[in-house]
Amino acid sequence: MNQEEAKNRISQLREQLHKHNHNYYVLSQPVISDYDFDILLKELIDLEKKFPEYNDSNSPSQRVGSDINLEFNQVEHKYPMLSLGNTYSEEEIRDFETRIKKLIEEDIEYVCELKYDGTSISLSYKDGKLIQAITRGDGVRGDDVTANVKTIRSIPLQLNGSDYPNEFEIRGEILMPFAVFNELNKEREDIGESPFANPRNAASGTLKMQNSALVAKRKLDCYLYYLLGKDISSDNHYDNLQKAKKWGFKIPANTALCKNIDEVIDFIKYWDKKREELPVPIDGIVIKVNSLDQQEELGFTAKSPRWAISYKYKAERVATKLEHVSYQVGRTGSITPVANLYPVQLAGTTVRRASLHNSDIIKNLDLHENDTVFVEKGGEIIPKIVGVDTTQRTHSAKPIEFITNCPECGSELVRNEGEANHYCPNDMGCPPQIKGKIEHFISRRAMNLDGLGEETIDLLFQKQLISNISDLYKLKKEDIIPLERMGDKSAERILNSIQESLKIPYERVLYALGIRYVGITVAKTLAKAIPSIEKLASSSVEELIEVDEIGSKIAESIVEYFSLEHHKLLIGQLKKYGLQFETIEIEKEGSSKILDGLSIVISGSFSKYSRNELKELIELHGGKNVGSISKKTSFLLAGEKIGPSKLAKVEKLGIDIKSENDFLQMIGL
Ligand code: IVH
Repeated sequence: MNQEEAKNRISQLREQLHKHNHNYYVLSQPVISDYDFDILLKELIDLEKKFPEYNDSNSPSQRVGSDINLEFNQVEHKYPMLSLGNTYSEEEIRDFETRIKKLIEEDIEYVCELKYDGTSISLSYKDGKLIQAITRGDGVRGDDVTANVKTIRSIPLQLNGSDYPNEFEIRGEILMPFAVFNELNKEREDIGESPFANPRNAASGTLKMQNSALVAKRKLDCYLYYLLGKDISSDNHYDNLQKAKKWGFKIPANTALCKNIDEVIDFIKYWDKKREELPVPIDGIVIKVNSLDQQEELGFTAKSPRWAISYKYKAERVATKLEHVSYQVGRTGSITPVANLYPVQLAGTTVRRASLHNSDIIKNLDLHENDTVFVEKGGEIIPKIVGVDTTQRTHSAKPIEFITNCPECGSELVRNEGEANHYCPNDMGCPPQIKGKIEHFISRRAMNLDGLGEETIDLLFQKQLISNISDLYKLKKEDIIPLERMGDKSAERILNSIQESLKIPYERVLYALGIRYVGITVAKTLAKAIPSIEKLASSSVEELIEVDEIGSKIAESIVEYFSLEHHKLLIGQLKKYGLQFETIEIEKEGSSKILDGLSIVISGSFSKYSRNELKELIELHGGKNVGSISKKTSFLLAGEKIGPSKLAKVEKLGIDIKSENDFLQMIGL
């Protein structure tokens, strides 16, 4: 393909991919399969690699994010980002109308929109291209999160049509759909991370992540609800949103144009019930004066527009009595207190239990025996206790004291400094921990031991046939057949899958061990950077944090795991049974040992190869690509536009700088 042909094909692919993105993420009406989409995307990425002169920061290929660490720049908003006045009753909504009517005599039309419960964002477009995304910050200045925002598929990087203003801003809400939120929390709990309290925290936490490739995986969504700029051609808010929709933005679904306040009240009442069925969290309704002339006449107070107001739904709340507090022991030994309640109806379901999360929550609530408590279901799925009705408390009621010993094995609980949870340290002798670890080990993403389930593990444990994961490899047919609901066939299936698991690669075995904070992604990263369990076990915290994406929390957890004698013993046994504890290196074409033992930091932008390709080249030649500069860095592979602070650090530490050409020469390219 010559240059001209490549240029045409690239622009054709970009246009097609922008359209398919919009069909899928904004309209929810894909016209091609995911597979076909990926093929087009791959073709584009390949062409962009070959012809870097056509690189464009708004190409659909940029949606996958990058693993460069971001430090957010603070940027001043062109127009301050204000908030809205809140109301909680019909009466306050009518007061809002009375206030407006004093200033405007004509009829007033209102737009009612859902009030999305996420984190607000301001997007700037120039000549149809997204140029900047800034968080609300303090309303005057916010963080530049453009790279992260580009990974959100429902935000157009390139607008459709041509009737958009040359320059404008559009504001909206970035949020996390419930389905994504639930999945994310499941994964976090799986690796011993504390779950996000609600989708709002998850959305804002994600948007501030330092690594946009990780943001891309979190599947955020975005609704845009406010157009700002000098050359906006329509004279009302509703039409503005319809236009924005044509340009490719996702605008609030279920918006209504209301002729009077009674219609507004009807809308509010309708959504109070219906909101439970929405796939995204909302916490109220926003009411806006439709006419832009009228908006201008009404103007702003210091904090908010006079032409708009929000109505906040009250989270449904009921009172019930606490029966008792019980304690659950997780796979990693963490103790979760649970309030067992007298059953009560709340938002359409019967509530019997509410999580109390940790001992601080119990202390803050000042929870006593038999207390009457208020239970609420807000944006979260799991109900929570939000307060205690102390007027109902009897004199003799004693405060709830957090347990000091494990409810399952009696060991004294520990609480590490800076952590909210108590732990049972007896990981080798505490039944729910032992069973939990085995269940994790056999799970699909770990060793995938087909035919074994929670029930069988329970039976094998009760019969004292297994007391840790290595015992699984000792099992014989005659051990399994006598178990309830087991026959010859099912026993064989289990033994087969145990045998098959000896082929499972090291990265999954590492995940299966169930080390705190080592999820599947971390296990993959570790297995790649440190290719054997011996090397991993003898790595120090400092060495571990040299690995990209490994922070001190993970590093400390790994070092602690391998410091325990019984873990060393366990791994020794598993090794004897033949499990994989080394990354099998397939000799790659063109590989060498030229960079053996070197730690190389990549920074800046390059002309011949992308950063990812350079990273691959480093690894291909035996080197290690690390994220940040330290004393141990062998050299900095420097492109253009390197940040001054990075350069200063390199100079201070006296580290060598190599250009792209120097580097390529070094590896013989
Ligand atoms: S309009 C100047 N519309 O609610 C008015 N805001 O309490 C701009 N929000 O900061 C806001 N859904 O983060 C507007 N449909 C909607 C909204 C909405 C959610 C958030 C937004 C804003 C906050 C105000």
